[in-house]
Amino acid sequence: MQPHPRSVEYLTTTVDPRQIAEFLHLEMPIRYAERIRALEQVPRWRTIPDLVDVHDIHVALLREQTTVEKLAKSVHQLRDDAGDGITDDSVSQFLDDFLLNRIGCQVLLGHYLACRAGQRNGIIDTRCDTRRVCRAAAEAVLDMCWECTGRRPSVFVNAHSACGGKGTDDGQVPRFPYMPHVLKYIVSELLKNSCRATTDMLSAHDLQSDDFPINVIICADEDHVTICVTDQAGGIPREANPWSYLYTTAEDGAYGGTKKLAGHGVGLPLSRLYARYLHGSLDLVSLPGYGTHAYVNLPRVESQQVEVVPDADYKYDYANLLDFTV
Ligand SMILES: Nc1ncnc2c1ncn2[C@@H]1O[C@H](COP(=O)(O)OP(=O)(O)O)[C@@H](O)[C@H]1O
Ligand SMILES: [Mg+2]
Repeated sequence: MQPHPRSVEYLTTTVDPRQIAEFLHLEMPIRYAERIRALEQVPRWRTIPDLVDVHDIHVALLREQTTVEKLAKSVHQLRDDAGDGITDDSVSQFLDDFLLNRIGCQVLLGHYLACRAGQRNGIIDTRCDTRRVCRAAAEAVLDMCWECTGRRPSVFVNAHSACGGKGTDDGQVPRFPYMPHVLKYIVSELLKNSCRATTDMLSAHDLQSDDFPINVIICADEDHVTICVTDQAGGIPREANPWSYLYTTAEDGAYGGTKKLAGHGVGLPLSRLYARYLHGSLDLVSLPGYGTHAYVNLPRVESQQVEVVPDADYKYDYANLLDFTV
């Protein structure tokens, strides 16, 4: 059976808990089954206890809070056990499909719970204030950075809109239907990376944070909201694959011990999945020796904000999801 992707338009017009529950009763088993299928396609998954656990939890249709942690551990183990047999690409394919599916289930269940709690549009904020969310993300990440490194880089958040006050934008501040906590997650992960790279560079060369600001530029036209996070921390080496779930340059225990600021290696690939979930994209441009630009591009028209639900019978061409270059 095929999954049935829903749109933000569906979510904002379907707020009766009973009606959502009816849909979820049919849809959740289909989406869980897709995840079980993805898992069973991992070579020798039965030899990895964490994968067997995750498999059992899914077969029993249980809620699964520790899944991401277990998956992250198991792919490292898979690589260590199997050596060359497991490639970065095969791990990425499996985790991208599995976790994107999981994001969809969490959003739909979250929507149901929010509607039951009486929230007007459920999990969607129909006028999500992009500048406010980005500023909140910056505050939180700067506090974390201070706690982990004893430094506070300079971060500026500015908003622009090409809609000239028309539509839903508040003057220059783009507002669009979205889940504020998801936007905050994506921007926080990008800022954590920029803050970490910037503080590393400042400490290594005894430089001043004012001279190496991090900028968050929010902008929008009628169809898309685009957020660019830029830093001047030297860029990412060309040979690195920052989209790999196995790639991190943060050593164990560095950056606050609890791996708050960096260290799991999953920040970028997971953020990209969240962006892709409603047909958006996340791209990185590294300018070696100078810095990194990250671009989040999100559709803002409700009927175009449609879930991407991985389906083993239908492959999405992610690279073509959204191309916003001129
Ligand atoms: N803005 C950046 N500047 C320099 N390196 C970066 C930047 N963003 C990401 N990276 C590199 O990509 C790696 C992976 O990033 P990420 O997926 O967020 O995992 P983590 O931050 O836990 O290491 C980082 O460890 C770092 O080496
Ligand atoms: Mg990170």
